[in-house]
Amino acid sequence: MSSPTPSTPAPEPTPPDTTSGATATAVADATTEAVVARGVERVFAGAKGAEVVALTGIELTVHAGEFVSLIGPSGCGKSTLLRLIADLDEPTAGEIRVFGRTAKQARIDQSYGIAFQQAGLLPWRSVAANIELPLQLHGADAATRRARVAELLDLVGLADFAKHYPDQLSGGMQQRVAIARSLAEQPRLLLMDEPFGALDEMTRERMQTELLRIRAETGAAVVFVTHSIPEAVYLSDRVVVMSPRPGRITDEIDVRLGDAADRGEDLREDAAFFAGVTAVREALHGAESAPAAGAARGVDVR
Ligand SMILES: Nc1ncnc2c1ncn2[C@@H]1O[C@H](COP(=O)(O)OP(=O)(O)OP(=O)(O)O)[C@@H](O)[C@H]1O
Ligand SMILES: [Mg+2]
Repeated sequence: MSSPTPSTPAPEPTPPDTTSGATATAVADATTEAVVARGVERVFAGAKGAEVVALTGIELTVHAGEFVSLIGPSGCGKSTLLRLIADLDEPTAGEIRVFGRTAKQARIDQSYGIAFQQAGLLPWRSVAANIELPLQLHGADAATRRARVAELLDLVGLADFAKHYPDQLSGGMQQRVAIARSLAEQPRLLLMDEPFGALDEMTRERMQTELLRIRAETGAAVVFVTHSIPEAVYLSDRVVVMSPRPGRITDEIDVRLGDAADRGEDLREDAAFFAGVTAVREALHGAESAPAAGAARGVDVR
């Protein structure tokens, strides 16, 4: 047997076409940032015509697969920023892109999942039915839904609780259901607003480790709002520090304590972890002493 030889000379390799729109789009798709905020401002109309500048001059980029926490005193605009990214609200100035699209288009395309402080489960639906809701709403067939729900139940460690109802679960379990639901459509971006705020410390630490594992498995980018410095440091690649009135980004701290999959409980006693906590705390104190800023209320410095 002769080895296969090309019957015709190999064609000249086509030089990369830098002018073609299609090629440019394909390249951009592979490297597109998860979130880009440019010059974002949100001003609310207050009482008697007064204005509340909730956010001003926000410049933020979250890379695909990156875990970014937003931390800052109560009222500094963390939830507002998350809501703008989720297209639950609109900026009064500036622009937000999610995977290169407008926030609205990204919402329509279901590019992200959302989890808030309250699990927000439907009490009359079982655990499995809560998780499958987004799939049902978007017309996935029954077999697809069943398979995906089984996967998600495994992922959040609730395979034995599929038929339970929310009021039969602990707070931490309910939060895991909410996280499973937010992952139902395999979003490349997760938006989480204090998802563990209502949990006791032990459960909270377990949930954090679980979130890191889930994130390592899914490769999703995460924008995570928290009041807790240790939580932000433990989870994040980067911690974004905000100051209030008007809400601004005052600092960004690279943490990167290693691969999400390798971050175990012992990391919480590691020198690198404490160094991260100190760096974020100092940045927050800087934000606290910024002109017109209030005390760093609501920031957990445990
Ligand atoms: N719908 C709204 N109408 C008017 N003002 C609002 C509205 N939503 C938020 N604000 C104001 O915007 C500012 C930022 O609020 P936001 O909820 O984003 O803060 P936060 O950083 O999430 O605070 P917390 O840590 O307490 O959750 C606050 O001064 C708040 O009163
Ligand atoms: Mg908030």
